[in-house]
Formats: sequence, structure tokens, C-alpha cells
Amino acid sequence: MKITYYGHSVIMMEDKEFKAIIDPFITGNGLCNITVDDINELSHIFVTHGHGDHIGDTVALAKKTGALVITNHEIAAYFASKGVARIHAMHLGGRTKFDFGVVKMTNAIHGSGISDDGRMIEGGNPGGFIIEVNNNKIYHAGDTGLTYDMKLLEDEHIDLAFLPIGGNFTMDINDAVKAVKFIKPKAVVPIHYKTFPIVNADPQEFKNKVKDSVVIVIDFNESIEME
Ligand code: NI
Ligand code: MN
Repeated sequence: MKITYYGHSVIMMEDKEFKAIIDPFITGNGLCNITVDDINELSHIFVTHGHGDHIGDTVALAKKTGALVITNHEIAAYFASKGVARIHAMHLGGRTKFDFGVVKMTNAIHGSGISDDGRMIEGGNPGGFIIEVNNNKIYHAGDTGLTYDMKLLEDEHIDLAFLPIGGNFTMDINDAVKAVKFIKPKAVVPIHYKTFPIVNADPQEFKNKVKDSVVIVIDFNESIEME
């Protein structure tokens, strides 16, 4: 599987017919060097919570590519109201089999309100995803503070975890280091940093502080390969 990091929380996963993006904050993301026009094929879009820097370009991408959008029930209803045709609503703690593999929604300690034309719309509870594709188990935490619930994820035997480190809205570096100790993933990729001055954390500092897992710092707009 090829994994590309477009900055913030934007992760692209590509494995044969499975071409998915998580939290597609493309427009307005200064770290991302592609535009919506550059994305012509997507099979799935995952949205962790309702904030604008995570919903991002979901509506435009779903309409353009016909991708199936996977998110919580409340955000699913919002996307339906915006004319998105293919949506699969899940909720926290639920696990579901799809044609490509298995998805579980995990909880996050955060908000999920959706800003829409100056109003705040109910976005349910924020979450993260465990996505299993071809024996690779990936965890994307979404935006979250440190929570002892992450200790439960140890039993999931995560291969690759994406954890926010930027602080202010999410875990900072020291809390993310504790999260790694709870989750015990084989490898961890820091996300949600440097997009805005207020989340200006140094991924190398995170790498130096993690002793229990392999830290992979993916440069913005660069890819790694998973076996
Ligand atoms: Ni958020
Ligand atoms: Mn965010």
C-alpha cells in the first residue's frame, strides 16, 4: 500500500482498486501542493469529525469521483443535505466489513461542529478510524486529546498509527508520546502540525521522544510504501 501525506490530517491510501483519502483538507491547506483538480479517482473518503480542516473538500471530491463517504451519522446527514450520493454512516465503536476490508470507528476527545454559512451545525461526536486493508491495519486518530481509551487499541495490533502532535486543539508532543505507549503501534506517523502557527510542533522532537515504536516522519506531499 502506498501512503501519501498532504500535511495536516490528510492521508491518501492506495492499494489496487482501493484509493482512499482521510480528512481531505486540500483547499486552504498551505502544506498541500495538490488541488481538487488533481484528484480524479477516489474509491472512499473518510471524515473523522465535522471541523472545516477535516471535512475540507469532501463534498466536491465525492461529487467529482463518486467515492463512498464513510463518517459518523450526523456528518453523513449533513453531506446528504449537500447532495453527496454515496454515504456510509457509522458510529463510534462500530466495526463494519466493506469490500476492501474492515473499518472501526474509534472515539476521540474533541468537538465536531460543522460551520456552514455562518451557522454551527450538529456534527455528532468526533472519532478516528481503524482501517484494515490487505493485512495492513491503520489507525487515524482524527483530532483528539490524550485519552486512556487509547490503551484499548493495544489489542488491535495496529501496524501504522497517525497521531496529532500539534497541541492547542489536540495532543501535543508529550501527550502523543504517551499515546504511543498506550497503543503500541508498530510504526507511528505524526500529523496535525505546522499547518497554522498555533500548531507549530517539531516532528523530529516527537521522533526523539518515542522509544517504543518506529516513528516515520513523512515529508509533506511525500509517500511511503507498506508491505
Ligand atoms: Ni478539529
Ligand atoms: Mn483539526
